[in-house]
Amino acid sequence: MKVLVIMGSPRKGNTYGAAEQIREIMQSFCDIEWEYLMLGDYDLSQCRGCFVCFDKGEEHCPIKDRAPEIEQRMLDADGVIFASPVYGMNVSGLMKTFVDRFAYIFHRPRFFEKKALLLATTGALGLRETLDYLDLVARVWGFDLAGRVGLATPPVTLPPYRQRENERTLQAGAEAFYRALRQSTRSPPGFKDIMIFHGQRASFSELMDLFPVDYAYWKEQGWLEKGAKYFVDVPVNPVYDAIGRLLEWRTRRQVRRDQAEAW
Ligand SMILES: Cc1cc2nc3c(=O)[nH]c(=O)nc-3n(C[C@H](O)[C@H](O)[C@H](O)COP(=O)(O)O)c2cc1C
Repeated sequence: MKVLVIMGSPRKGNTYGAAEQIREIMQSFCDIEWEYLMLGDYDLSQCRGCFVCFDKGEEHCPIKDRAPEIEQRMLDADGVIFASPVYGMNVSGLMKTFVDRFAYIFHRPRFFEKKALLLATTGALGLRETLDYLDLVARVWGFDLAGRVGLATPPVTLPPYRQRENERTLQAGAEAFYRALRQSTRSPPGFKDIMIFHGQRASFSELMDLFPVDYAYWKEQGWLEKGAKYFVDVPVNPVYDAIGRLLEWRTRRQVRRDQAEAW
């Protein structure tokens, strides 16, 4: 199995050190191919906000850099670790630029066969905000989330009980990721996943003129078919399904009303 770490720190510091510890734990279980994608080495340009990727397709992005190579590396891996230090209470700028450059994937998700682990390190604060953000990104892009590892790594020597806490967190995260990678099936979607599916389905089917590329993509995947319950064929909790359909109906009604009154 192959793991790709997308490293949002510009240096081989605390976050890299934590990823290395996860690697050592996981490689003690079995032979794992391990790669780092140091975002700092890729020097991705900032998104220019032209909307071309949404409107015409990502292949028309005017920025010609190595972004397509990054997407291919994610597609080639079985699992991806999204790793970021907390900078200014959330993900690093490198990580945010990376997410913005792949914003079209929020509309056209594609990583349903991949597992993800989230990793963040902080001096003191912002762990929850950072992990929540990475959670949303990975989830909407289609990843099956195995777990999150949040570590406090202040610039002082941690007392032994805090070091043990970090070690336990690393161990639990590595084990959860390993278990997920060994499973060929996807874990059942949660409430949030089902709401995202129905909310997006309502928008992309109603706004086919505004987002023709998204509409075509959703149609091609079969996600607009009446009986579709989720992006992939997995059991869906019937209560989530019923609430999701209700949300979809309400969203469609709202979008139609907005369109009728605005144009
Ligand atoms: C530019 C910058 C911003 C930071 N912002 C925060 C912050 O908002 N909250 C916090 O608790 N720590 C903050 N830190 C500390 C880092 O989150 C912490 O040292 C982290 O482990 C660094 O990871 P790295 O060595 O992998 O880069 C900041 C550090 C830097 C360099």
